[in-house]
Amino acid sequence: MNKPIGVIDSGVGGLTVTKQIIRQLPREDILYLGDTARCPYGSRSYEEIRKYTWEMTNYLMEKNIKMLVIACNTATSVVLNEMREKLSIPVIGVVNPGARAAIKLTQNDQIGVIGTNATINSKAYHKALKRINDNVTIEGLACPEFAGIVENGDYNKLEVFEIVKDTLAPLLKSNIDTLILGCTHYPLLSPIIQKVLGPTIQLISSGDETALEVSAILDQQNILSDSEYTSHQFYTTGDPTIFSKIASSLFQESLENVKHIKL
Ligand code: DGL
Repeated sequence: MNKPIGVIDSGVGGLTVTKQIIRQLPREDILYLGDTARCPYGSRSYEEIRKYTWEMTNYLMEKNIKMLVIACNTATSVVLNEMREKLSIPVIGVVNPGARAAIKLTQNDQIGVIGTNATINSKAYHKALKRINDNVTIEGLACPEFAGIVENGDYNKLEVFEIVKDTLAPLLKSNIDTLILGCTHYPLLSPIIQKVLGPTIQLISSGDETALEVSAILDQQNILSDSEYTSHQFYTTGDPTIFSKIASSLFQESLENVKHIKL
């Protein structure tokens, strides 16, 4: 079925998931929408997160998407269940795939989760992990500054290293062997996070596992694309220039087709 997959995030973070979807499903069309103008979502109320996520979703539904990927942990934690009930297309979030990937990798059943205030307070990862394996111990830590740092596009500065180091200090006292990057913006900081935590803690970003789930569902529902040409379109409610710059460096190719939209 040659309709696009819709991918939403509060900003550029969902591009880390999109990169994996494009890698695993090169024949699929993608419509990506980042609500950069209202990012970060992570410190907003649940009601605001719910309203904004529905606005993004309705925008893409009008463009006739065949599946929705909520490539934002914050939005997934707040509205995934409601969207699944109300929409007639498959809806995938990033929390369950991230939890599964962590369970697969941990050797000592001690898993850390970093995310926005909303994601950590919702205990979405806690519930997802415990549902699979009740023996795991979970250390949750909110990192409210990280998404904004990524959105500004200037994350290679020395002060960013200091902020990451100070924020993650509590994790260095724990025994976790696996850390879930529970915000899709954080993989862009992963070289810095890995440097701060050292090589013994494995970092998980849910993009890979989410793309696998997207692929499995398209296959099960028999709605994989059979097109020979693909189109990837990107929309942002914010400044398309900064968005293009971050996307181009992540995809390692110049991305010119970013359009500004209003919700
Ligand atoms: N990328 C989003 C997430 O995965 C959130 C960043 C934000 O808007 O606070 O949670």
